[in-house]
Order: sequence, then C-alpha cells, then structure tokens
Amino acid sequence: MNMQAIESIDKLRLVLGSLRVGSVVGLVPTMGALHAGHGRLIQQARTDCGNVVVSIFVNPIQFDDPRDFQLYPRDLSSDLEFCRARDADIVFAPTAAEMYRRPLKSFVDVAGVTEHLCGAFRPGHFRGVATVVMKLFGIVQPDRAYFGEKDAQQLATIRRMVLDLSVPVTIVGVPTVREADGLALSSRNRRLSAEERRVAPFLYQTLQLAGGRISAGHRDAREVREEALAMLKHREIRVEYIEIVDPDEMRPVDRIDGPVRIAAAIWLGSIRLIDNLLCAPA
Ligand code: PAJ
Repeated sequence: MNMQAIESIDKLRLVLGSLRVGSVVGLVPTMGALHAGHGRLIQQARTDCGNVVVSIFVNPIQFDDPRDFQLYPRDLSSDLEFCRARDADIVFAPTAAEMYRRPLKSFVDVAGVTEHLCGAFRPGHFRGVATVVMKLFGIVQPDRAYFGEKDAQQLATIRRMVLDLSVPVTIVGVPTVREADGLALSSRNRRLSAEERRVAPFLYQTLQLAGGRISAGHRDAREVREEALAMLKHREIRVEYIEIVDPDEMRPVDRIDGPVRIAAAIWLGSIRLIDNLLCAPA
C-alpha cells in the first residue's frame, strides 16, 4: 500500500476506520525532524502492527520557551520520505489550527512523575505533552503506541496517564539510539556548533561512569551524584540537573537499593540536551 499523508482529523478517522478492522494499529507520535531514533520506533511499530501511523506535529503547548518552538527544525517533505522508506502506512501531519480549532480548555495533568527532573525546570511541559498525546490517542485510537526511553520522564508520564485514566492503549518503550560516540540522537543536535558537538558526548560518558559506580556497589545516591557533577565540570557545559531517581516514580532516592535511572539535562550554549541511563546495583 502507498503511504498516505493526511492533514485532517476527519479524513484520518475515515481512512483508519476501514483499515483498522481486524488489524492492530500502532502510533508513533513525533515532532518531525526525524532521525534514526524515531526510525527505531517506527521499525518496532512495523514489526508489531498491521497499520503504522506516524504523527508529525510540533506541539506548541508543550514548549515553555517560545524561541525553542520557533527554532524547532521543520522539514515535512524529507520527513515524509523518511517514513515512506520505513514502510509507514499513514503520516498524520496536522496544522496547529487543525489540532487546536478553539482555545483549549481541557488538559491532562499527571502529578508525581512530572514533579522532578525536566518537570521542575520546564513548567507546563508535561501537561502539554500528556494533553497532546491523549488527543492523538483520541484521534488515532491506536492499540499500541511507541515512545523512546531517551525521554524517560515523558515515557513514565504517559504510562501513568494510561493507567490512571484507563486508556486502552499498550505503551511500548524503545531503547535510546546513539551516535558512535554515545551522544543520544536528538533533533536538537543539528543546532550544535562544532565545539559543542565535540563536548556533547561527555553527558553520556558521565552517566556511564556514574552507572559504573552504582554497579560496583555504591549505595549513597548523593555521593554518586556529586561525583557525576564534578565530571561534568567543563567551561562549555552548564548542568541543569543530574539526579538518581526511582525508575517508575521518577523521584530522587537517597539510597540505591534497586534499579535506578540516572537522568541529566545540560545546556551547551543555547541548546538543551537530556539523557538517562537505567542501572542496578550488583
Ligand atoms: P520527539 O522529540 O520528536 O520524539 C518522538 C519520539 O521519539 C519520543 O518518544 C522520543 O522519546 C523518541 N526519541 C527521540 N530521540 C530518540 C533516540 N535517540 N532514541 C530513541 N527514541 C528517541 O517526544 C516528542 O517528540 C513529543 O514530546 C511527543 C511525544 C511527540 C508529543 O508532542
């Protein structure tokens, strides 16, 4: 079947209405500027589902910084090519006017998991994410939806949302795709200067070293965190946070007694990068 690119909610519903009968629908929500990380999600959806829908929508209500929204890379024609090459069935790429036809009065707030890490620094971000994802679930009505572990707090938020609100969608987490030097793929990487790009892999290297300390038996989260902070000291890097958290609740722990996620956000110039690593004590 030829891939279809659809802008309108009504048309998408019509097309999916006949396709979904007897077939599993998988949704891969994205904001475009697609790279191999997104590719991995699409590939997983392709393996699991009869119908693969990729949504491309730079969602204004999840940006806490208007400049970041403005500068967010947009390239629909190459994104469509990307999806076609990966055998997606439908790309749903609505305009903001189509998604938000009238001033939005209903929002999804997921408390707890959104309190720390990015949630503490990006007011309203996860509310914007949870709301648009809920809306996409309402539009596409997928059986399964795919999210990257790269955005671990986002994944935890969506998992909690579908549990709390009994949304009949299976959430699938997909491992982070990295460059050869460890840098997690991100649409924002293309805005890094040559020098920033050189420094960017320090983030993952630090997470790995901290993970190594934990596997070696270090149980004091504060100590491991302080060491990680010291490793990230570099004139190009401004650390926003680095925390060791419970992987489901996304709450900082004092003692490392089971699996934890080390999560960090740094700034390189005007670019914000996030990454995380799941690890467990030996
Ligand atoms: P976006 O940043 O485009 O990411 C879309 C999906 O790709 C997310 O689930 C993200 O975790 C995943 N992803 C990004 N980089 C990845 C990598 N290096 N490896 C594996 N997966 C990766 O996240 C969003 O868009 C938005 O918040 C969205 C969920 C679409 C709601 O607007």
